[in-house]
Amino acid sequence: MKVSSAIGAFLAVASAAVVDRKARGDGHGHDHLPMVDSRKLQNAIKSKALLGGAKVLEKIAFSTPGRNRQMGTLGHNLTTDFLVKELKKLGGYYKVETQTFWAPTFLNGTGTLLIDGVKTDSGMFDYTTTGNVTAPIVVVNNLGCTSSDYPSTLSGNIALVKRGSCEFGLKSALAGAAGAKGALIYNNIQGRLEGTLGLPGRPEGEYLPTLGLSNTQGLDFVTQITGGATVTATIDVASDIQNRSTVNILATTTHGNSDEVLVLGAHTDSVYRGPGINDDGSGTIGILEVAKALSKYKVNNAVRFGWWSGEEIGLLGSEFYVASLSAEEQAKIRLYLNFDMIASPNYILGIYDGDGSAYNNTGPAGSAQLEHFYQNWFKSNGHNYTSVDFTGRSDYGPFLDINVPCGGTETGAEVIKTEAEVAMFGGTAGIPYDPNYHQAGDGVGNLAMDAFEINAKAIAASVAEYAVSYKSLPPKAKSNKRGVFPRRTGKGKTLRI
Ligand SMILES: *[C@@H]1O[C@H](CO)[C@@H](O)[C@H](O)[C@H]1NC(C)=O
Ligand SMILES: *[C@@H]1O[C@H](CO)[C@@H](O)[C@H](O)[C@H]1NC(C)=O
Ligand SMILES: *[C@@H]1O[C@H](CO)[C@@H](O)[C@H](O)[C@H]1NC(C)=O
Ligand SMILES: *[C@@H]1O[C@H](CO)[C@@H](O)[C@H](O)[C@H]1NC(C)=O
Ligand SMILES: *[C@@H]1O[C@H](CO)[C@@H](O)[C@H](O)[C@H]1NC(C)=O
Ligand SMILES: *[C@@H]1O[C@H](CO)[C@@H](O)[C@H](O)[C@H]1NC(C)=O
Repeated sequence: MKVSSAIGAFLAVASAAVVDRKARGDGHGHDHLPMVDSRKLQNAIKSKALLGGAKVLEKIAFSTPGRNRQMGTLGHNLTTDFLVKELKKLGGYYKVETQTFWAPTFLNGTGTLLIDGVKTDSGMFDYTTTGNVTAPIVVVNNLGCTSSDYPSTLSGNIALVKRGSCEFGLKSALAGAAGAKGALIYNNIQGRLEGTLGLPGRPEGEYLPTLGLSNTQGLDFVTQITGGATVTATIDVASDIQNRSTVNILATTTHGNSDEVLVLGAHTDSVYRGPGINDDGSGTIGILEVAKALSKYKVNNAVRFGWWSGEEIGLLGSEFYVASLSAEEQAKIRLYLNFDMIASPNYILGIYDGDGSAYNNTGPAGSAQLEHFYQNWFKSNGHNYTSVDFTGRSDYGPFLDINVPCGGTETGAEVIKTEAEVAMFGGTAGIPYDPNYHQAGDGVGNLAMDAFEINAKAIAASVAEYAVSYKSLPPKAKSNKRGVFPRRTGKGKTLRI
């Protein structure tokens, strides 16, 4: 199916279950439970259970033809079935709901690259346009992130663009807008480049038939072409894109003040290329274990766990959830905590830079205190920590948009680890925090279990803190008007760069 509408159009047709219900404030059936205690909640988080949950998700992925847990596939359905079953075991402690929405899903694709008629290695991009084009290659200037980088000689030819700084999808669409017939994007680190263009329907235009190259291949073509040679490419790609339904899962305590809800979340979908056990099986299981542990305690403030779908194709589930709430319901979200990749094999211990001190992207009032909470927790538990840019490039973005203070931790994706970070966290310099990011290797065997346990305990500590009281936070901003904290570009958990 060829898709050309904008993202909003797909979400507008989706259906939603009723999401917010005034929970009983009387502790209905929970009065006998002790008030949540931070130390006890943290101690209830066991590495063995985290590993067990990760193994379940991997087994689910590997039981399906795609060996993934991508939105709209059997692997994702089995993931959400598992979570609902686990939550329902908790004796009605949570009200468990699902929210259904639809989105075009890239299910499979094939790609062949010929250079001057000879078959050459290449990588696929999800959501590439189907086509078979042959033309000379023209080199795009800089990183191809603005239309002025695309020379007029591109018209009718194939664009060669370097990876970096902006989304693959933007490069493909800008090359199309400049009149190219196809696009080749080459890596800026070792290895063949593959990834996702993201959902179609960009304002810049349609995607071209697009393939990925290694850095060596790309630089070789640049040398030949700038030396005056003509290099002709054939890009022959096909992609199977289908409109599929999926669900978000919401689990809300049936007691606690539902006018000031603590919301936390992780995403349940993997990319097409792998089982997604660090990204974001780790966050999925991390918050599940905290949800299970919390069910032995009473809370003052209602707590809602969100398991979002469609994160990998553009934060669809979290965006859908936020948009499904009335302004009044949105205002009841006191804060949002996000956990996306918390067991990267070559990890950093990262905390969202809510106070803007490292990246100058300051969040809504309260985000600084959430960052400081995690900093204090890491410090008092003898761990180093570092800041990660507060870009909104994971499921906290839609919450930033409505002025909700956000916080969270992550252990890093495709960014290369530095020597200074090795001194702080161990690991290997010169390779990514997660060398298996968005690849088939993102499995149980590549999790850093120490980072997983540290972060899951940090989640427990923050839930215990804010389920009891928000007194350490400044008053929440009155307005939940969109756009006060616009999504920023930059590093962070980059989705498609
Ligand atoms: C994807 O397509 C390839 C080639 O047609 C096929 O071998 C493979 O089984 C497909 N994968 C899935 C998950 O359908
Ligand atoms: C996933 O579950 C939905 C119902 O929630 C169903 O309509 C769909 O067919 C299932 N998809 C697969 C691939 O099993
Ligand atoms: C794609 O185009 C090339 C060059 O014109 C041609 O050799 C090849 O057979 C085409 N592929 C398909 C599947 O038609
Ligand atoms: C996807 O399917 C749903 C349910 O049938 C429908 O409401 C929606 O319009 C479809 N979206 C597209 C883009 O076809
Ligand atoms: C931080 O960002 C603000 C608002 O975007 C800007 O006015 C200010 O100059 C920036 N400060 C630094 C040190 O970059
Ligand atoms: C924290 O980082 C410093 C280097 O900045 C290092 O000397 C120290 O050993 C690290 N501490 C831990 C617990 O890893």
